[in-house]
Amino acid sequence: MSAADNTTAPPSQASRRLVFNILRYNPNDPASVPHMQAFTVEEADSMTLFIALNDIREHQDPSLQFDFVCRAGICGSCAMMVNGRPRLACRTLTRDLPAEITLAPLPFFELIGDLSVNTGKWMRAMSERLETWLHAKESEIDLCRIEARMDPDVAEQIYEMDRCVECGCCVAACGTAQMRKDFVGAVGLGKIARFRLDTRDARTDDDYYELIGDDTGVFGCMSLLACHDVCPKSLPLQTQIAFLRRKMAAQGLQGLPVVGRRLTSSTC
Ligand code: SF4
Ligand code: SF4
Ligand code: FES
Repeated sequence: MSAADNTTAPPSQASRRLVFNILRYNPNDPASVPHMQAFTVEEADSMTLFIALNDIREHQDPSLQFDFVCRAGICGSCAMMVNGRPRLACRTLTRDLPAEITLAPLPFFELIGDLSVNTGKWMRAMSERLETWLHAKESEIDLCRIEARMDPDVAEQIYEMDRCVECGCCVAACGTAQMRKDFVGAVGLGKIARFRLDTRDARTDDDYYELIGDDTGVFGCMSLLACHDVCPKSLPLQTQIAFLRRKMAAQGLQGLPVVGRRLTSSTC
C-alpha cells in the first residue's frame, strides 16, 4: 500500500441544496389561507428533518410551527406527512429523500398550525373510550404479594405492543379513518390486542367485543395494512389485528341464534 493510499480521505457526499415545500396555515388566524411555502437549506451530514426544520425556523421564518420533544423517536410528537407518507421527522434522514421535500401536517387530527397537529386530544379520547388500562382481577392491591408470574413469550408480545409511541402515523395512513372519524385506528386495535394478551386483565372477549365489535372497531378495518407499513416502531400490527378480528368474529357468531351461526360460517 502506498503512502498516498494511507492519506486518502473517504469520499464525502456532495452537499445538496434541499428545497422544502411546506404547507402553511394557521386555523386560528382568520386572515390565514392554506398555501405552500418554499425554503432552501444546505444539506449537512446526517441531517434529519428535525435539524432542517429548526434551521428554517432559526434562520428563515421563526413563525413556522412544528412539534418536537425527544428527538429520539420516543415521544411521537414529530409525525408529519413527508412526500405524502407519514413519518417521524426526527428519525428521517434527508439523505434518504430526494432534494425536493414536501411537508404537510398529518391528516385526520385537529390542526394547530402548519405542521403541528393535536394528536394528544384524539389519543386521550380513544384511550378513554377503549379503557386502555389494566383492569386488574383483584379489587385491592396487596403490595406485599410477590408480583404475578407471566409466560416470557406473552410478556415479550406485550412489550412489543407497548412500544407504541402514539405518533398517529397509522391513523394518518388509514383509509377507514379518513372516511369515518369514529374509527379507533390501528393504534386503538393494537391497545386492545395488548390488554387481551395480558393475563392480569379481568376482561373477557365479550367485554372486548362490546368495545370494538363493530365498524368503528375491528370490523371497520379493511386489512390493507397501510398502518403496518408506516408504523415507525415496526409494531406487529398485521398479526395482532388479524388475530383480533378472528377472535371478535368468533365472539360475534356466539351471539347469533344457531341458524344464523350455521349460515354465517358456511358463507365465510
Ligand atoms: S401503532 Fe405505530 S404508527 Fe400507530 S401510533 Fe403506535 S407507533 Fe405510531
Ligand atoms: S389495516 Fe385497518 S387499521 Fe390498518 S390502515 Fe388498513 S383499515 Fe386502517
Ligand atoms: S421528537 Fe419525539 S418522536 Fe420525534
